[in-house]
Amino acid sequence: MSENRPLDSILEERISRRDILKLGSAASASVILGGALSAEASENQTQEKTAIEGKSLSFKEIDTEIDKTIHVPEGYKTQVFLRWGDPIHVGVPEFSPLAQTSVAQEGQFGFNNDYVGFFPLPYGSESSSRGLLCVNHEYTIHDMLLSKTQNNSKAGLSKDLVDIELSAHGHSVVEVRREGSQWHLVKESRYNRRISALSAQCLISGPAAGDDRLKTSADPSGRLVIGTLNNCAGGTTPWGTVLTAEENIHIYFGGRPQGTKEEQNHRRFGVGGANDDHKDWARHYDRFNIEKEPHEPNRFGWIVEIDPYNPNAKPVKRTAMGRVKHEGAVTTLNYDNRVVVYTGDDQIHEYIYKFVSQDKYNPDDRLANIGLLDHGTLYVARFDSVGGLQWRPLIYGEGPLTKKNGFSSQADVLIETRRAADLLGATPMDRPEDIEVSPLTGKVYSILTKNSSRKFIHPSNPRPNNRHGHVLEFTPPTKDGKPDHSATEFAWEIFLLAGNPYVPRHRAQYGEGVSEQGWLSCPDNGVFDNKGRLWLTTDGAPAAVGKADGLYACETDGPHRAVTKRFFAAPRGAEVCGPCFTPDGTTLFVAVQHPGSGSTFDRPSTRWPDFQEGMPPRPSIVAITREGGKAIGG
Ligand code: FEO
Ligand code: CA
Ligand code: CA
Repeated sequence: MSENRPLDSILEERISRRDILKLGSAASASVILGGALSAEASENQTQEKTAIEGKSLSFKEIDTEIDKTIHVPEGYKTQVFLRWGDPIHVGVPEFSPLAQTSVAQEGQFGFNNDYVGFFPLPYGSESSSRGLLCVNHEYTIHDMLLSKTQNNSKAGLSKDLVDIELSAHGHSVVEVRREGSQWHLVKESRYNRRISALSAQCLISGPAAGDDRLKTSADPSGRLVIGTLNNCAGGTTPWGTVLTAEENIHIYFGGRPQGTKEEQNHRRFGVGGANDDHKDWARHYDRFNIEKEPHEPNRFGWIVEIDPYNPNAKPVKRTAMGRVKHEGAVTTLNYDNRVVVYTGDDQIHEYIYKFVSQDKYNPDDRLANIGLLDHGTLYVARFDSVGGLQWRPLIYGEGPLTKKNGFSSQADVLIETRRAADLLGATPMDRPEDIEVSPLTGKVYSILTKNSSRKFIHPSNPRPNNRHGHVLEFTPPTKDGKPDHSATEFAWEIFLLAGNPYVPRHRAQYGEGVSEQGWLSCPDNGVFDNKGRLWLTTDGAPAAVGKADGLYACETDGPHRAVTKRFFAAPRGAEVCGPCFTPDGTTLFVAVQHPGSGSTFDRPSTRWPDFQEGMPPRPSIVAITREGGKAIGG
């Protein structure tokens, strides 16, 4: 299915096939390719363009090198208000990095914050000054979490230290309030909770719940699992829950797959042989040893739904959305009120998925929506070379998903989602990270970080040795004038090819007029603001282009389409995650993840954000506001 053709010939084919809105730029061979538009769509676009021209992003781009701290444009303010180790309950000890315990960490903000979601309080309001912040804690890094004085045994980490790591994983729900331009955590809030990998009881629901392949010694029901792991990006639902995506869960499991009854499955997922940061987990916990508990990894790699408004509600792993290395989970309401969730499987040559619920969202009955993500159809994306995108269903008994190929039920199809998608001829992508849906147009943006192992190119992943990543735009058909996200045929376009447009060998592609600062490399997470502008974070730019990871914004339509502008830069070692706006657009939360990575707790390359001797760098949430309280971005 992959084609090995030069980029130029692919672009030529697509340029000649499509209307070209603009060709060339001061920078390089930047092109903007327009879709084939119907007369009605063209007229709509003209109206939309007029509307959009008036709201171009007005901030002055930052111009900074990689250094020890964060940067925003003139006229903007930053406040670091939630750091790894901050107590989230009254009575929990303050962060004391050399005396850290698992018990303390269970009541403190976790490590490596990733996704951020804001849920107004009270429920149903549009409050932008009081809400629940839901934050993922993706993974831990030994050398940044622990001092050599704590982690000094040649035999590896003690159980107490492993327990700190388990407690630092998972998710936090915290109430936050804004007074003036300052945000603060409400420690007394009844909503505050940590959902850690050590202690949180999570339910398993959907078609795979209770399946034999989800049963373990500790859980003969196959429906109850301790913890959620590697919670990367996520999303919100229209009924006020957060979806958190379990991503690189293979890094926690020791032992070898050979000879286990899940050998083929574990090999396809990369399970077996934990990474250096987690290799001690299996020594202390049998469940992290696949030779002893071969089913335990099958209980991770799901989309997990958490109700932040009900602190007693257990997180629920919704198996209907498949088991892959989910980057995120972005929900949109279809024209008919069914729910559609887009998710990427973040590994080189993996796939893009969407889930379409069977039943409809009920705006008048919140609780009736809580099980919506248990029933529906999962699809995987197959791109053709001329702008067509086909969504192929993963349904047991249909096509190749039968006993002949080792599938005995829908549970099998979901547990081995990747293998099912292989058989369906899905298109291998350049690390599908976040996916976002424009609130104005309903178009879907898939953010692909990079793939330096790509040899065989396909028009949807058009650069070999793709070191800079790209963003694709999907256009669903319309029904009754609204986007039909449930359709099985979409159109696709390249939105941008990241990299430096001033360096021809990067073969970057933006809209016309990207500045020397405005281009990006390695896009990862995204979010739309309420004016329909797309904000993109990066992860990996320092290694790829020697530029700090950061946050960029652009229009998706009109004359400034795909003209990215540089808004935020992270400290040395850090990537930027979880961009999230309050409903009124006046506060932008960003998660600065793994500051100082590549150095150590004892000799860090930055001590952001505290800058105190003895205090390690701390992954933290930053609230960005604008002087005068105006909307972010202009
Ligand atoms: Fe957790 Fe794909 O970044
Ligand atoms: Ca990510
Ligand atoms: Ca990342």
